[in-house]
Amino acid sequence: MSDELSVQGMLPYLSRDISDMIFIHESLESTNITAKELAESGTEHGTVIIANHQTAGKGRFGRDFYSPPDHGLYMSIILCPARLGFSVPSLITAYAAVVVCEAIETVCGFSDKSPQIKWVNDIFLDGKKICGILTESVKMLSDKDLQCVVLGIGVNFSTPTQGFPADLRQSAGSLFEADTFLGQPSATRNRLAAEIINHIVLSANRYDREQMLDKYRQRIFLLGRKVIITEIDGCSFEGVAIDVDDIGRLVVKREDGELLSLFAGEVSVRF
Ligand code: BTN
Repeated sequence: MSDELSVQGMLPYLSRDISDMIFIHESLESTNITAKELAESGTEHGTVIIANHQTAGKGRFGRDFYSPPDHGLYMSIILCPARLGFSVPSLITAYAAVVVCEAIETVCGFSDKSPQIKWVNDIFLDGKKICGILTESVKMLSDKDLQCVVLGIGVNFSTPTQGFPADLRQSAGSLFEADTFLGQPSATRNRLAAEIINHIVLSANRYDREQMLDKYRQRIFLLGRKVIITEIDGCSFEGVAIDVDDIGRLVVKREDGELLSLFAGEVSVRF
């Protein structure tokens, strides 16, 4: 099965032909950078930028996102929140995490494992991170009041374990890492990309806010566990992850009993 990324290869799986809004590049610095430039110059809602390789893929907290050629799906989608069911950026990110998990289940058909979400938006399979999501705000020049976001999704599709840099090998995995030794993966990046596009661009109102948050909570694997939270300023504290509230914040009960609702931060599990 060929796994070359192409709009033609996605077409059979798209619920509507929006091939004129999907742009595939062999290599980009970062699809988020390209999508932000396009959004700033007025490119429309629903435009999708995909690359086979990123030379400077971006992660949260200014980190790099490892993006080797031929083994990953690196895509950024320009979204105007007013056109989506969820206008708060944190909910767009949560919705994207749910969509990616469901797309993986639909496309990959794993019977023995199910993707889970590590709050905020890392997707794990078999205890390893296989996808990261980075949502960035954009101010469009053409209309000062219209706020846009770029939703960047990076999926490790078929990277072999030994293909990751040494410092990522313990924590990062890919959907079909084992299959790269056994032969071809049983799915393609085109199919997965189309499934994600279908539910983010073409039918974003599939779930209302409550349904979506329920699905998000069901996949969060930290709830009820002792965690260490590292905030963006680098300060950290311990507590128990209690819930995700109705705007996607993680509710943590500190050891002194105080409840905190967090929009962002890095969570690790305390063993
Ligand atoms: C994270 O894990 O911290 C988020 C990673 C987001 C990576 C994706 S790949 C497509 C898009 N382009 C980027 O440069 N980053 C996002």
